[in-house]
Amino acid sequence: MWDASKGHDSFFMPPTSITVLDLSAYVGLLAVGATLNMLLGLLMAYRYSPHRSWPHRRFNYFRLHNWMGYVALGVSILHPAILLSSKNPRFRILDLAYPVHSPSQPLDNTIGAIAIYLLAFVAVTSYIRIRLGRHLWKAFSVYFAAAALFWHSLFTDPALKSASMNWFDGGKFFVESCVLLIAVVSLLRLRYARKKGFHARQSSH
Ligand code: HEM
Repeated sequence: MWDASKGHDSFFMPPTSITVLDLSAYVGLLAVGATLNMLLGLLMAYRYSPHRSWPHRRFNYFRLHNWMGYVALGVSILHPAILLSSKNPRFRILDLAYPVHSPSQPLDNTIGAIAIYLLAFVAVTSYIRIRLGRHLWKAFSVYFAAAALFWHSLFTDPALKSASMNWFDGGKFFVESCVLLIAVVSLLRLRYARKKGFHARQSSH
């Protein structure tokens, strides 16, 4: 990701060893980190009470979860927006809003854009509180958004060279760890929902 010989590749950046692509990639990784907000959402699904359990304090993590959601969306938009100042390759606004014909890795970029649209959908619908069933629409949108953004983050070559992937590169390793963490906690959540459903059926007989 880091190549001192590639500095000074944007309209506004002074000649440093960090390129626009590096900066965009770091902000992209920050966006992936912010999506760990899903873990707070999963705690809410468990009806976890920080007052009853650890840390035994009243703490409105629902509000934190909402704010983190907006931060995740904002950082996710900032990451491709930074690409607008890249000289080589050049990205136009259309290449970001509809990356089907964007320069280099258009498929991965399109999947990244789908992730943003889904995140925006979740944020807007949560805000206006549309109620559809048991919030299943929200869970599905969040999981599709996570799948899209993880796909994009794992399979995009940060140097845009479509080179064979180094899965142990720092950035990729961070994304892999996030995928693993979310997958494990989601599976536990699924097991919990199944158990709860089973007990509910037992007690109704
Ligand atoms: C319109 C939407 C998007 C476009 C056009 C786009 C485009 C790109 C491009 C061109 C790269 C490679 C160059 C660079 O590193 O900047 C990249 C890397 C990356 N993108 Fe995106 N992206 C989009 C959305 C997202 C979203 C929503 C996320 C996560 C929330 C994300 C996370 C990442 C990460 C983590 C990398 C770096 C991977 C690494 O360093 O190995 N991107 N993206």
